[in-house]
Parts: sequence; structure tokens; C-alpha cells
Amino acid sequence: MERVRFHIPGHQGRGLFPSIGISADYLTVDSTEIDGLDDLSAPEGCIADAQHRAARLYGAQHTFFLVQGSTVGIQAALLAAFQPGDTVLVPRNAHRSIIHGMILADLNPVWLMPEYNAHWGTWLGLTAQAVERGITEHPHAKGVILPNPTYDGWVPELAAIGKMCMQHNLKLIADEAHGALFPLHNDFPTSGCQVDGVDIVVQSLHKHAGGITPSAVAHLPKSSAVSPKRFQAALNLLHTSSPPYPLMAAMDNHIGWLNSTNGQHHIAQTLAMVAEWRNSLTLPPHITLCHTPNRDPLSLLLQVTGADPNDWAIWLEDAQGISFEAINPQSALYKVGLGVTPQDLTRFTQALQALGEKDFSTGPLSGHFSPHALPIPHIACSPRHAFFNRSEVVSAQHAVGRVAQHTIAPCPPGIPLLIPGEVIQPGHASFLPDTIAVCETTTEPL
Ligand SMILES: Cc1ncc(COP(=O)(O)O)c(C=O)c1O
Repeated sequence: MERVRFHIPGHQGRGLFPSIGISADYLTVDSTEIDGLDDLSAPEGCIADAQHRAARLYGAQHTFFLVQGSTVGIQAALLAAFQPGDTVLVPRNAHRSIIHGMILADLNPVWLMPEYNAHWGTWLGLTAQAVERGITEHPHAKGVILPNPTYDGWVPELAAIGKMCMQHNLKLIADEAHGALFPLHNDFPTSGCQVDGVDIVVQSLHKHAGGITPSAVAHLPKSSAVSPKRFQAALNLLHTSSPPYPLMAAMDNHIGWLNSTNGQHHIAQTLAMVAEWRNSLTLPPHITLCHTPNRDPLSLLLQVTGADPNDWAIWLEDAQGISFEAINPQSALYKVGLGVTPQDLTRFTQALQALGEKDFSTGPLSGHFSPHALPIPHIACSPRHAFFNRSEVVSAQHAVGRVAQHTIAPCPPGIPLLIPGEVIQPGHASFLPDTIAVCETTTEPL
């Protein structure tokens, strides 16, 4: 049975824009920084022109092509925006790329705990109130880094947080790995590109936007306090000196298509098609699709009351060919990209009807890995200090009370279960690998 992919990459395995396949075409375009082909580390020619076209589409002061995903953009953003030793406010459901960027940039995180939604089994977007509390308790903080939206599709109170950051002179970085389409249609939640007070926005084109893995872009919005030169210098510390020309050419084509009448029409049509599909779905009362305004409309959370998503979501995939993006404790996540077709949605409807006739009620949900039920972090030292400190490897049973040296962040969703420098608590024990590196450092909070 052919599988319908409701997961990343969002092209769903179909060509959307004129891209370069792995064929003779690919080899023709695969080149290096010869005359006329510019240099990604100091663009002045065709790469600079392509980045300007992208900046125009996104309404940014400056856009950078990222050939190593949003990961490299987030890490460059932290190096460009802050000084070693700075304190930054970060929600606990931040992606591991942020934690790794903090090791590189030597930042001290203050973890803000977002609200946990027990019904859907996911953390929500960061509220302005949580940021305000963070600023009050840590007046020396220099910035805020947050996902917009979260991996599960929840959006933070970005406009209010932007305003607060301007008032307190804090830098604000928006991780929009899952929000690359947000600035391109009014039915999407607000992007950091559209909000005052945001300094850097990083977006994966290869997620919902239908690009090739791992294409991504970083934008400095018009009001950014970070200079393009500084961002370029930070990026140059991290990205390859042999950038893949086929990927960059595909990114330029992709941006051109997103900006074209065809592309704009395709985005509007995808949104309308998904909205119409949701509205016309008649589901039995025990099956629900999350429907609230503060969500990315292309991230679908599905729930079967009283049943374990590990059972029904895997059945939907194996028996009905409907692939999921991720499984949460109480729901499963389905990502719709620009490659989706009406036939895909019809297949999903039929599969949901078949699901309605099955009985998956299992009583209490069985335990499985979840980054969602984490204890409030007890921090012993900065991620960088832990990473570079002397360490030893101990068995999981001897790890409680010790300090983690590395990130443990199973993917998806790539949200750390343990952060370098965090004290391992009894609540972590069931998720730990058999052995773990712990630092020889004090467990007293700094
Ligand atoms: C919230 C979030 N931020 C950042 C990233 C990193 O993006 P990329 O895979 O493009 O490097 C991911 C990847 O899944 C993510 O989910």
C-alpha cells in the first residue's frame, strides 16, 4: 500500500517547484566558488542576489541562505546576538539546536516552563506572562529565544513578547523552523518577520514549506539590532566552506516559486483545502482533531479518547498507510506540507472512518518516552561548563543526583530530556540510557 506522508519534509515526496533531482542535472549544477558563482561566506554576486530576492519575499532587511538547516542559523544567531556569559531566557521545550548553540556561545540559560496541556499531552507556546516573570526574576538577562510555533504547532504570544523585549532592551530570536510559511499568508499565525522587537528569525524551508532537506533561511527583520556583518561572521564560524550549489540553486528556485502567482495560489489553496477538509470531517465522538485559534493550521493533533496513540497511530500507519510525524502521550501529530493533495486528505478521511470502527480503548495509557513530563530543571552549571568539564560514565542507576554532561534529546521532537549542566533527578530515571556521561562538578545551583 502506498503511504501518505503526513510528516516532514513537506513536499510529501512530490516535486512542487523546478528543483534539481539526483541525476545528471545535479552534477551539472554541483560546482564550487569559481568565477561567477559567488561565495556563500562573503556573497556579492549571484548568491547575494538570491538572498536579496528571499529578503524581499519575507520583508526582511537581510536574508541568509542556510545549507545546514535551521540548526546552523540558530547557532549563528546565538553567537551573533550575545556575548559569552550572557543570561538568556529560554522555554524548556526549546529544540536541542538552541542548547547546542548555548554551548558554543557560552550562554547561561534561565529555563522558563511553558504551560503543559494535559488534554493533548503537549507543551504550549510561551506566554508573555512567563517572559515577564523571567525578566523580573532575572533583570540582567540579555535576550529571549523561543520557538514559533512549537514542534506541535502551538504559537507563543509573540507580539506581546516582542514589545516587552523592546521595553527591556532584550534581543529576541524566533526559531521558526516550523513557521517558514507564516509570513506568506494571513491565515497563518504571525511570524517574527512581522513583529517589532524580533532581531533574528530562523526558518526551515524543508519542513512545511516543501523545500529540499536541509534548506533553511535566517532573516534579520527591518528593526533588527543585529548587523548583517555580525551575523555573517557568526555563520562563517559554523557552516561548510564547500557549500552545496545544487541545494542553493533549489533554494533560489523555491523562493522564486513561493513568490510567484503560482506559489501564492498554491499556499492559499492548501490552506483552504485543509480548512475545508477539517470542517467537513464527521468523526465519532471519541476521535477529535485539535481546533483552536492559537495553532499552526498545518500541524494537526489527533486524539482517540481513552486509547494509547502508540497503538492507534501505528495502526493507522501500518494498516491504513497514514504516516504520522510524532506521537505524544495523549495525541499524535500529523504535519501537512505544501505537497499535500486532495487525494491524500481523502485517504486520511477514509482511514479515520476505519479507525472509528476499531476499539483501541486500553485503559490507562502505557508509559513511553515523553519529553513532556519533565521535572523543573535544577541547574548546576552552564551547558558549556558541563560540556568541557571532566566527566565519567556511570550507569543510569548511579546517575541520579549527578550532573549531565551532554544533551539527551530523542528525535522527534528533539526537545532535550536532559540539558548539559542539569542535575539528574529521579523523574529522569526511566528515560535514561543504560550509561550516561556525568560531570565532575558541584551539584549546588550556581
Ligand atoms: C523547533 C525546531 N527548531 C529547530 C529545528 C532544527 O531544524 P533543522 O532540522 O532545519 O536544522 C527543529 C528540527 O526539527 C525543530 O523542530
